[in-house]
Parts: sequence; structure tokens; C-alpha cells
Amino acid sequence: MATSLSDIPKAFLKGIAHSRVSLLGAMVVTVSFPFLIGAILYDMFLHIPNPYFAGFIYMILGPSFIGGLVLIFVGLFFAKGQEEVRLFTLAYFRDKLADQTGYEKIRKLVFVGVFLTCINLFVVGVLAYSGYHYMESNSFCGQVCHVPMTPEFTAYQNSSHSRVHCVECHIGSGASWFVKSKISGARQLYAVLADTFSRPIETPVRGLRPARDTCEECHRPEKFLGDKLVIKDKFLDDENSTHVKTVLLMKIGSAGDRAANSHGIHWHVAPENRITYKAADWERTIIPEVALTVDDGKEVVYRSAEADEQLAEAEELQVREMDCMDCHNRPSHVYLPPDKAIDAKLLINEIPKDLPYIKRQAMAVATETEYATQDEARTAIASGLVEFYKQNYPDIYAGEREKVDRAVAGVQEAYVQNVFPEMGIQWNTYISHLGHANEMGCFRCHNEEHEAENGEVISMDCDTCHTILAEEEDDPEILETLLGGH
Ligand code: HEC
Ligand code: HEC
Ligand code: HEC
Ligand code: HEC
Ligand code: HEC
Repeated sequence: MATSLSDIPKAFLKGIAHSRVSLLGAMVVTVSFPFLIGAILYDMFLHIPNPYFAGFIYMILGPSFIGGLVLIFVGLFFAKGQEEVRLFTLAYFRDKLADQTGYEKIRKLVFVGVFLTCINLFVVGVLAYSGYHYMESNSFCGQVCHVPMTPEFTAYQNSSHSRVHCVECHIGSGASWFVKSKISGARQLYAVLADTFSRPIETPVRGLRPARDTCEECHRPEKFLGDKLVIKDKFLDDENSTHVKTVLLMKIGSAGDRAANSHGIHWHVAPENRITYKAADWERTIIPEVALTVDDGKEVVYRSAEADEQLAEAEELQVREMDCMDCHNRPSHVYLPPDKAIDAKLLINEIPKDLPYIKRQAMAVATETEYATQDEARTAIASGLVEFYKQNYPDIYAGEREKVDRAVAGVQEAYVQNVFPEMGIQWNTYISHLGHANEMGCFRCHNEEHEAENGEVISMDCDTCHTILAEEEDDPEILETLLGGH
């Protein structure tokens, strides 16, 4: 039997040629290899921001290449087609190892094998490295899963965390969370391909990494000190859409620091306080029982009057330790309620405030009908507003058409940034817990209905969390004082 080095690739090819599985593998590898190398180089040096291009490389070409390699070897070892294909089988190795020349041949085979493996490992390594980074990128998270992620991606871009990568909150650092997230990611990818994902996407996220690990990479709770002046701008329903302001001094407090004892709002996350609660539904809106353990180990349990029934009827009982996310559940996916979304546009003059009754009419067209698609909403918003001004204010409509058009565009923007009917997201589908809209948020616990054995309740006193310095005033005196009339 020939033993020269040049025969080995030949025999290798022959081996492949006699196994259909290997042949298929070889074809896949040959076809994908040049594209793959070309595309990776292209991506590395010219950097194409198109998410589908990267998706094509790392989700299709890469896995096909690796799959092809696996097929070749599976074919060579296990799925031989004809008798003479004996290269690389166990029997072959046994035979060859028995005599001297055979031993030589094996050595060369190993040599070729190692050489080819090195090349393949290099390609696979580059793939794994770039693929890892690609899968960590916002474009993979937000755009490749285009339909299901559009709402989260849009809402995220409107938040203060729009420069923070999805993975920094959803995965965080460390290999074990990467693996966990990829396992659930594979399930999600399947859900996208099979079109079985839920609309809207369920919140809270199952198995989300505890917030303190991720948030505290950037925010140190010891550092939220003092009080913060919060000014809320609002526009009323009257003809002038009067601009009013609510001024609150938020008692942000501290989670404890060298300089300050824990107090105020961030007292909940101080190291010496541990709050656990039982929620009767997955959304954590019904909280029958809250337990507070302080430093000395003393536990106080607050229970609502209907705690027993609520716990018995619980659709999905969970026990949870309170962390950042129980208040900051919308740090990055900020879906505004309709009045706030429209107020925000009025404030920056994307909706002209001097159109009569604009706030009232904008609310009406944006909320009175539940539209089936964003396009339907756009059309209805345009025709609704145009109709109103044409009929009731023909002068304005004729003379200041541009303002009406701007109002239409502003209301449409407010709508499409917050409502995604295609994904089952209407106004207020996702509610922020950072406050007490609709009796939710803080009032899930702070409602004076949760009572401890000694009769104490979780406080609902309006001054516990903030001092209200002005409420919906058009020219609050306090701002006069603070700003000195400027
Ligand atoms: C600042 C941290 C942060 C960043 C950055 C972030 N998220 Fe989230 N995300 C959250 C939190 C918190 C929740 C709500 C989790 C909960 O209540 O359990 C959430 C929820 C979600 C949900 C579930 C639906 C919902 O709105 O509750 C999806 C889907 C999601 N995020 C996708 C993304 C994508 C895609 C990106 C990047 C474009 C991203 N996230 C960036 C923190 C973040
Ligand atoms: C990678 C760093 C990073 C991570 C992780 C991060 N943040 Fe932030 N966060 C920032 C930065 C930077 C700002 C300031 C943005 C600005 O002022 O424009 C900020 C601002 C905030 C604010 C104030 C602005 C607002 O929207 O009210 C809150 C609250 C906040 N983060 C909460 C969280 C929570 C909760 C988490 C965990 C789910 C988190 N952050 C994770 C970097 C981060
Ligand atoms: C009990 C509810 C609650 C918990 C728990 C909580 N926060 Fe806050 N946090 C708030 C409120 C309320 C504000 C003030 C929001 C505003 O600006 O009106 C705030 C403000 C902040 C700010 C902005 C501070 C500033 O000076 O503007 C950051 C950053 C922040 N929180 C991060 C966190 C992180 C990180 C955690 C977890 C370790 C956390 N919070 C836990 C309720 C909470
Ligand atoms: C899971 C239940 C729960 C939720 C949700 C919750 N709290 Fe509390 N909070 C407590 C308990 C328990 C106490 C201790 C009893 C008390 O002081 O009334 C407390 C105490 C406080 C205190 C007094 C801290 C001190 O200095 O002694 C403030 C301020 C506060 N909460 C603010 C908030 C704000 C703001 C929110 C919403 C963003 C909120 N809490 C949401 C359970 C909760
Ligand atoms: C457990 C803490 C807590 C208690 C108790 C509480 N609030 Fe608040 N309140 C908040 C937080 C947090 C916000 C949201 C601040 C933000 O959005 O930045 C808020 C916001 C508000 C706002 C502004 C709403 C807006 O967006 O325009 C008003 C008005 C208000 N509270 C009134 C009250 C009144 C009246 C009471 C007494 C019945 C009360 N609050 C009790 C925590 C509390």
C-alpha cells in the first residue's frame, strides 16, 4: 500500500467520495468556506452596520460551515457507503498500527489531520469570537428579531439607557449567565421562527438576572443621596391647553453611606434591610404579604386584609426579594401613558400648543379607538385632527395649515413610539412601578391596607416619599422662589 504523503489527501478524498454523508458535508464546507472568509474579512475591515448581513454570517454561514465539517467526519467514521472506504475507521487504525510501514502512514495522517484541524480551529475560533460579539450587540437583540423586538427597541431608544447595551442589563458579565441566556435565547429564537412568541412579550422577564448584579455595575446605591427636585409639566384639556406644573421634592434618600444612615426611598435596598414579598400574579401587581427583616434579625410581616383569599387564589405565587427592578421596572423600555406622551410632544413644540383644544383633541384621536395597526392609527389620527379643525376652526385650517400638519405628525409620533398593536401593546400595557399610576407601583404595598401584628401599616402618607411643593399650578410660587423669577 502506498505510504507517500501525497497519497493521504487522495485517500482522504476517496474516503469522503464513498460516503454520501461526508460528500454532503464536503460540499457544504466547500461552498460556504469562500463566502464565509470573504464575509468575515469584509465585516471586520469595512464594518457593515446592516444587522442582516451580520446575521447571515453568524447565524447561517458559520453554522453551515461547522455543520459541514461535522458531517464529513461523521461520514468517514460511521456512515461509509462502500467496502473500500476504510480510511479512518477503527479497523483501519488497528491494521496499520500492527506493522511498521502502516505506523509511518498513521504518523503522516496524524500530521495532515493536525494541520487541517489547526486551520479549521482558526476559522471556528474567528467565527466564535465575532459571533459572540455579534450576539451581544444591540442590533442582534433589537433588529434581527425585528418584529417581536421593535417595541422594546423603540422604547429603549427613548430612555436614558439608550447607550447601554441590551446585554448589560439582560445578561451581565460572566460565563454562566451567558450560557443561561443563550439557552433561553435558543428557545426564543425558535419561538420567533415558529411564530409562537407571545404578543405582547411577557413582563416581568422570566429568569432575568437579579437587578443588583447588573444595575450596580454602574450605579452604587450608596451614592443616591439627598432629595431631588422633580418638575412635571402637564397640559390641561381646556381651549388653551394650559401649561401647568407639579413640583415634587423626591426623597431619594440613601441606602446607607459613611455620611448618612439609610433613609428615604433607597432605604429598601440598604444592606441592613431585607424586604421579601409574596405576589399572587406573575406581573406582581397583587401583593398580599410583605416581610421586612432588619439588621438585628427581627422580622415584621405586613399582610393585606384579603391576604388569605389572595394567596389561595394565586395564579402564580412567587416569593421575591425586593430589588431595583421592583420600582425601576422600566429603566430602559419607557412606554408612556397617552397623556404623558402627548404632553411631552407639546412641551417640545412638536405639537403646537396654540391650536385651540389641541390637548383634548389629540387625546381623543389617540385613545378613543383601539387601532389594529400603526398605519391604521396614523391615518385615523390625521383625518380626525384635520376634520376637527376644518369644521370648527376653518380660519385656522385655511390660514395655518402648517400647524395642523405639525400637530398631526406630533400625535402620530407620540402614538407610534408607545403603542404597537401588531405586538399586542396598547396604551398602558406596560406600566411603570416608579410612582403610583392606577394604584400600582408603590401603592401595591404603600396603601395602608398592609398591616403588621402590632397594627402598624405600610405608610401611605403623602410626605413619606415626596413633599408636594405645587400641584398642577400654572405659575407655581415655589418655582418663582427657587428660580428667582427666571
Ligand atoms: C438599563 C437596563 C436595560 C437595558 C439596557 C435593556 N433592558 Fe430590556 N428590560 C430591562 C428591565 C428592567 C425589564 C423588565 C424586567 C422585569 O420587570 O422583570 C426589561 C424587559 C425587556 C423585555 C420584556 C418585555 C418588557 O418590555 O417588559 C424585552 C423583550 C427586552 N427587555 C428586550 C431588550 C432589548 C432588545 C434591549 C436592547 C435594545 C434591552 N432590552 C435593553 C432592562 C434593560
Ligand atoms: C452600563 C451602565 C449602566 C447599567 C448597567 C445601568 N445603568 Fe442606569 N444609568 C446609566 C447612565 C450612564 C445613566 C445616566 C444617563 C443620563 O443621564 O442620560 C443612568 C441613569 C439611570 C437612572 C436615572 C435616569 C432615569 O431614567 O430615571 C436610573 C433610575 C437608572 N439609571 C436605573 C438603572 C437600573 C434600575 C439599572 C438595572 C436594571 C441600570 N440603571 C443599569 C448607566 C447604567
Ligand atoms: C422603593 C423603590 C426603589 C428601589 C427599590 C430602588 N429605587 Fe432607585 N429610585 C426610586 C425613585 C422613586 C427614584 C426617583 C425617581 C424620580 O426621579 O422621580 C429613584 C432614583 C434613582 C436614580 C436616580 C438618582 C438621581 O439622583 O436622579 C438611580 C440611579 C436609581 N434610582 C437607581 C437604583 C438602583 C441601582 C437600585 C437598586 C440597587 C434602586 N434604584 C432601587 C425608587 C427605587
Ligand atoms: C414590596 C412592597 C413595597 C413596595 C412595592 C414599595 N415599598 Fe416602600 N416600604 C415598604 C416597607 C415594608 C416599608 C417599611 C414600612 C414603612 O416605613 O411604612 C417601606 C418604607 C418606605 C419608605 C420609608 C423609608 C424610611 O426612611 O424609613 C419610603 C420613603 C418608601 N418606602 C418609598 C417607596 C417608594 C417611592 C416606592 C415606589 C417607587 C415604594 N416604597 C415601594 C415596602 C414597599
Ligand atoms: C410610597 C411612596 C409614595 C407615596 C406614599 C405617595 N407618593 Fe406620590 N409619587 C411617588 C413617586 C415615586 C412618584 C413618581 C415620581 C416620578 O414620576 O418621577 C409620585 C408622583 C406623584 C405625583 C405626580 C404625578 C405626575 O406624574 O404628575 C403626584 C401629584 C403625587 N405623587 C401625589 C401624591 C399624593 C397626593 C400622595 C398621598 C395620597 C402620594 N403622592 C403618596 C411616591 C409616593
